[in-house]
Amino acid sequence: MNSRVPEYRIQVSQLRPGVFIRLEKTSWFEHPFLFSSFKVKDDEQIALLRKLGIREVICIPEKSDVLPLRPDEKPEAETEPESELSQEAIDHLWEVKKERARRLRAKKQHIAECEERFTLCIKTFNNIIKNMLGGNIASVEDALGFVNRMSGLFLEDRESTLHLMNVMSPSENAYSHPMNVAILSMMVGREAGLSKEEMTALGMGALFHDIGKAQIPKKLLKKRGTLTRPEQEMLNRHAEFGAAIVSQMENFPKAATRVVAQHHERMDGSGFPLGLKGDSINRLAHIVAIADTYDNHCNQPEPTDSLTPYLALSYMFGQQKQFFNVELLALFIRCLGVYPPGTVVELSNGSIGMVMSVNPKNQLNPSVVLYDEDVPKKEALIVDLADEPDLRVEKSIRLSRLPQEILEYLSPRAKITYFIE
Ligand SMILES: [Fe+2]
Ligand SMILES: [Fe+2]
Repeated sequence: MNSRVPEYRIQVSQLRPGVFIRLEKTSWFEHPFLFSSFKVKDDEQIALLRKLGIREVICIPEKSDVLPLRPDEKPEAETEPESELSQEAIDHLWEVKKERARRLRAKKQHIAECEERFTLCIKTFNNIIKNMLGGNIASVEDALGFVNRMSGLFLEDRESTLHLMNVMSPSENAYSHPMNVAILSMMVGREAGLSKEEMTALGMGALFHDIGKAQIPKKLLKKRGTLTRPEQEMLNRHAEFGAAIVSQMENFPKAATRVVAQHHERMDGSGFPLGLKGDSINRLAHIVAIADTYDNHCNQPEPTDSLTPYLALSYMFGQQKQFFNVELLALFIRCLGVYPPGTVVELSNGSIGMVMSVNPKNQLNPSVVLYDEDVPKKEALIVDLADEPDLRVEKSIRLSRLPQEILEYLSPRAKITYFIE
């Protein structure tokens, strides 16, 4: 409202709906409000403050719709707050507050379990790919079994999986690129209604899409900055190399071989190795192309070059649409949500939070766990933006730009190995 008026102390009797206040002397545990700072919504909240024995609060004019009454001014309608406010109503507020903490604990537990599965799977996958490249025939069967288990392990609890993927450190992510691409692709595949066989082929193609890189000199793979033309041409050959490797393997699904061969082909014919166009590209390869591009945007070798999930999706939809099958790209965005779980966001009131879950029907208003230094981490608040008309997401923030203490606070993970600039 008036940004020039500094905050000041007022009596609770001066309050009226629309005044933004901060509870100063009351710790977060001693009141049933969700926040220690909030805009007074109705007379019932004022009554509750009185009932709690709170006499004074801090008024923040900048965030208020109206200023408080003057000390000598009488409220328009004299209320008898004590009688209006039942103990039941107060108990309900406490219950809501506790319930949010419970939800958060359950969510964290799920994510921790998901993380454990994920780490185990990366190990298993690395063994399989080593055996495969070493010519062990049985390893294709192992891979098929692995892919079939993956859908049960990660697609059932999509939110925890996405959350985990988004909060991993860049180094962990480089390590888990094939797994990320496989999981993201299979999420889309399931949404697209693929058959069980197609899902297996999709998972196999996605997991091994870059297997041809085993034949590219390591020095070239690790090179940062712009590549020379011959270097780029050499690197691009990983798609053909990969297809050649997997086509030697008897039980490797044919459709998955096509995914490996075509994952860099683009809808408009600008891809490689063949410059295929539109429907001449395998449908599963279209899916993997989207998941691969997305994961690469989010996890660049130089963390400062990485995009947030939100920006990666906007970029793909805004600038790179011509490369992809638009229908599948739309499905991909629907699977992830505009702000995928794990995205750190700044809200319109300036608070920082991490997206916990997304309601597919209201993607712009996810549930967010909030950073609040007054609230202990294990009690951290979840707000459902769909229920808070005054709050909205202002922008997404890169994890690497976040101060360590906020990251520690918001992260659902037990151990944090984030890269900090
Ligand atoms: Fe590739
Ligand atoms: Fe890739």
